[in-house]
Amino acid sequence: MTQAPPKEAQRAPKGLFIETYGCQMNVYDSERMRDVLAPLGYAPVTKPDDADLVVLNTCHIREKATEKVYSEIGRLKAHKERRRAEGADMKIVIAGCVAQAEGEEIMARAPAVDLVVGPQAYHKLPELIARAARKTGERLAADFTAEEKFDALPARAADGVTAFLSIQEGCDKFCTFCVVPYTRGAEYSRPIADVLAEARSLAAQGVREITLLGQNVNAYHGGASFAGLLSALAEIEGVERLRYTTSHPTEMSDELIALHGTEPKLMPYLHLPVQSGSDRILKAMNRKHDSAHYRDIVARLRAARPGIALSTDFIVGFPGEAESDFEATLALVREVGFASAFSFKYSPRPGTPAAAMHAQIDETVKAERLARLQELLSTQQRAFNASQVGETLPILVAGPGRKIGQKHGRSPYLQAVHFDDAAARVGDIVPVRIIAASQNSLTGVADAMAVA
Ligand code: SAH
Ligand code: SF4
Ligand code: F3S
Repeated sequence: MTQAPPKEAQRAPKGLFIETYGCQMNVYDSERMRDVLAPLGYAPVTKPDDADLVVLNTCHIREKATEKVYSEIGRLKAHKERRRAEGADMKIVIAGCVAQAEGEEIMARAPAVDLVVGPQAYHKLPELIARAARKTGERLAADFTAEEKFDALPARAADGVTAFLSIQEGCDKFCTFCVVPYTRGAEYSRPIADVLAEARSLAAQGVREITLLGQNVNAYHGGASFAGLLSALAEIEGVERLRYTTSHPTEMSDELIALHGTEPKLMPYLHLPVQSGSDRILKAMNRKHDSAHYRDIVARLRAARPGIALSTDFIVGFPGEAESDFEATLALVREVGFASAFSFKYSPRPGTPAAAMHAQIDETVKAERLARLQELLSTQQRAFNASQVGETLPILVAGPGRKIGQKHGRSPYLQAVHFDDAAARVGDIVPVRIIAASQNSLTGVADAMAVA
């Protein structure tokens, strides 16, 4: 749909600075906010000092993430006052999951904030910002649904050869530690036609690798099964690689597991959070799977797609976690072997059932267990990266590398790769022989012998 740009667009561009915290869903949402604001003349700037509008896209998942928001608002307030002294009017918008969960509190605690907007109201940003500017309308917008948001977002502007595509938002799982069902609302799947249209538009703009996003992405039910959606996306010309995150173990259908063996565009890497290796703790977490179920999924995935790399999330120090429960987690890690993983100390979140549970674990015990777990996980990650040395991998070229003649790109296993290949073009998938590995990246050279 083409619309005449509003009058403001003809004036000098206004600076937009978006700071993104939290998960990939927030990264996607920040891009969409940029798309929504572009017709109003807002263009991205690299530091808040130059901005007319600053958006903090916040995360509520752990206490630390939430605290950051208030300290950042303090910093922005100083910028705002300085800009006001220069005659400029800088607006501060708080978006994301803290906005949704603590909107009233932010309004009360931080008068420098012009607008608080929950994750389902981004399509309303132009109108809300205009109203906040006139100081006539409400400054708190939290009452929308994901469906309204997705229906109203404008066409998508791609940026690079990889892209996130949100297909599902919200969560009905209610793990007892988690705020997401409260901040993102009920699970909603975008209609398959809309997802395919967005993917085609991304492919037409040069995107080669699409990562489908959702809090429970594999629970997708927007007119096709999740595996059905992946198969339909794989048919789009130009889309060479597909990934998805985050999936829930109870939603790993037989159809989806089988697809990992039959669909070459589906990358051999899966992020599948397990949280704990102890069945007692998994039950208290309301995860609805036990550790045997998780091991079984892993075995079936590996049978379908030999060599598939796995990634996961862990929480240590959940209420009631005994040393023996923690050891069950270590045992699961040793048995499964992860290519990468995120691990966190349990953080009690207001309003969630686990925060009210007895037997909260001492912070020093949490820290000690986290250190032990992370040591094991980083050993596995290094070993996985080292196992690629000598292999030739197909690398999606994403841009220039660190040195002249170098490029950087992504392996099928989501590793960052720097390699020598002056001829490779951005967006190509080229064979690269891996010659060195570190904790977080690989180094390689163009493999002239290989057939792409
Ligand atoms: N939807 C995904 C992930 C949600 S949040 C899933 O179901 O797995 C990302 C990760 O943050 C979670 O997997 C969990 O490991 C961690 N997390 C969530 N709530 C937490 C809390 N209260 N304390 C510590 N870590 C938490
Ligand atoms: Fe949170 Fe559990 Fe939902 Fe994941 S599945 S978003 S951890 S409630
Ligand atoms: Fe954080 Fe919200 Fe994502 S709480 S992890 S930004 S869904």
